[in-house]
Amino acid sequence: MAGEERPGAARWLPTRRTPRALRTAVAECRGCELYRDATQAVMGEGSADADLMVVGEQPGDQEDRQGHPFVGPAGRLLAGALEEAGIDPARVYRTNVVKHFRFSGTRGKQRIHRSPSRAHVLACSPWLVAEIDLVRPTGVLLLGGTAGAALYGSAFRVGESRGRLEPWPEEVGGEVRSEHVPDFVSVTTHPSAVLRSRDRDADRERFVADLRVVAEALP
Ligand code: URA
Ligand code: SF4
Repeated sequence: MAGEERPGAARWLPTRRTPRALRTAVAECRGCELYRDATQAVMGEGSADADLMVVGEQPGDQEDRQGHPFVGPAGRLLAGALEEAGIDPARVYRTNVVKHFRFSGTRGKQRIHRSPSRAHVLACSPWLVAEIDLVRPTGVLLLGGTAGAALYGSAFRVGESRGRLEPWPEEVGGEVRSEHVPDFVSVTTHPSAVLRSRDRDADRERFVADLRVVAEALP
């Protein structure tokens, strides 16, 4: 891919901010080049007055094909873990830092996931900011390093931060500058890291334990 134009998503944001208006508008976004190879944009989904916003990295292979977030293997693991932690799915809005699937090449029918770069996160961040200001969640749960870096900057490491409740940072190190200030933010690993783990049962337990910390803090 040569000479990328990345004007950023801001100019594609609709003036009317509803979940439906965002979904319609993101389909037209050309804020970075990722729209070109992806099937479609995937906007966040869930109740517009959800208490908890769960933020992943980007749509995966299944999400890209189906047009909905967290419908593949990682999403199924997340749904099961949320249930086990006692978090009602009706109170959760699930989204991603980047709305188009980035991949490099294919393995059989599966396209190989490639993490978005900082430039993609920066270009796409107006969508996430719009979602935070629309849903105004009490808490935000960041899944994995890309989501963590979007808020805290590139020095962020999941391992040092997971499973705690933190105030929304006053100085945002990354790209996410919303008007709404959630009561807390928490980080944990990405469910796809649990799926890849050689110690999957233990890592899943730890993931659920992190979600329980969040469950306790919800209204
Ligand atoms: N992984 C993510 O980060 N988001 C999804 O929607 C699916 C998998
Ligand atoms: Fe727009 Fe984000 Fe898609 Fe880039 S990844 S085209 S900024 S929606």
